[in-house]
Amino acid sequence: MLNIKETTAKYSAISAIGEQVRQLEAQSGEKYLYLNQGVNAVVPIDLSKVIPLIDFNAKDIQVYAPMKGRPLLKKAIIKTYFKGSSRAENLLINNGGMSGLDLIFQTLDLKRVILPSFFWGSYANIMKIRNIDYDFYANFDELKAQIGVLEGCAVVICDPNNPLGNKFDDKNLIDLIKFLDEHQVTVLVDSPYRGVFYANDAFYSQIGQLANVIILESFSKSIGLSGQRIGFIHSTNELLLQQLSIRLMYASNGVNSFAQVLVEKLLTTPAGNAAVNEFRKQTTRDILLNINYLKERGFLAEQFYKNSQPKGIFVVVKFSAEELLKHHIAGISLSFFTAHQKEEAAQFSRICVSVPHHELKLFFDKI
Ligand SMILES: Cc1ncc(COP(=O)(O)O)c(C=O)c1O
Repeated sequence: MLNIKETTAKYSAISAIGEQVRQLEAQSGEKYLYLNQGVNAVVPIDLSKVIPLIDFNAKDIQVYAPMKGRPLLKKAIIKTYFKGSSRAENLLINNGGMSGLDLIFQTLDLKRVILPSFFWGSYANIMKIRNIDYDFYANFDELKAQIGVLEGCAVVICDPNNPLGNKFDDKNLIDLIKFLDEHQVTVLVDSPYRGVFYANDAFYSQIGQLANVIILESFSKSIGLSGQRIGFIHSTNELLLQQLSIRLMYASNGVNSFAQVLVEKLLTTPAGNAAVNEFRKQTTRDILLNINYLKERGFLAEQFYKNSQPKGIFVVVKFSAEELLKHHIAGISLSFFTAHQKEEAAQFSRICVSVPHHELKLFFDKI
């Protein structure tokens, strides 16, 4: 008899929907457009000129990597993502955003985590597994008004947001982060979609040294390598980094060396830089074409973009998931991404707009 400790966390609805649509496609023999996923699908990153730069026979690739990450990769991240404004000691290379969130939630002693009211469901699932309370904020003003009760809590910043794909003005965002930091509120910056659009700008340099700010970054979205399972955590708190690295060690014995070398080459070599730039150029071009097209057709749910811009790899459209499916388009009901007003949210869907423009247009032209 196996005694199982069951969790109330659920498998992602997103993968279940993908499965359902694949079955529909197989039964009908007709093509569907998959906008349910959360990865960039305009083009894959072309690694053909980067792979020859890697010596797969090198001993340091074949054996365990240093527990906090390969020094050359950390150096490259400090240069590229922090403009030299931080130190390698403030970084931990980890197995991507999901496991980074789990490590952080295990390690911090928090009263509660405050999520955006439209949020990526995995935040809540990880917290269910780790028995952490969470609540929501509707906007920045609400957070500021409640500052008195936020001590001991962590606020998650996801900008551009998943699921809304909305991007707030950087100045307002940085002001908010500084305000929360000054009031001793932990700020967890988990914005993996930002890097697709604002590569290597000064954002992390402006917030990275704040004592209560933890930056979680992933290479899954910004350079299209979700299969490699790699990202990093940045914090100036030495004890936090030490504790995270102990947990990382006993959870996974470190991070895949090949993935670390691959990202290092992408960040440091001319061939790598060219591959990343081309990937971002083509991806952002089609995302923009898609968003403009949806706006022109009147399909974009503009009410979600009042104080922000539709910018991310996702947008919200004025169709329920069922309506989209009638037109052979797989999206996800917005009701999956909120704990409140689910009925109202079900009139809308989150779609991924990081797909080739001609494909999106082909399907939406028929509506
Ligand atoms: C908001 C957000 N954070 C983090 C992640 C984690 O991505 P990964 O584990 O691939 O780094 C995702 C993935 O969908 C996400 O949407």
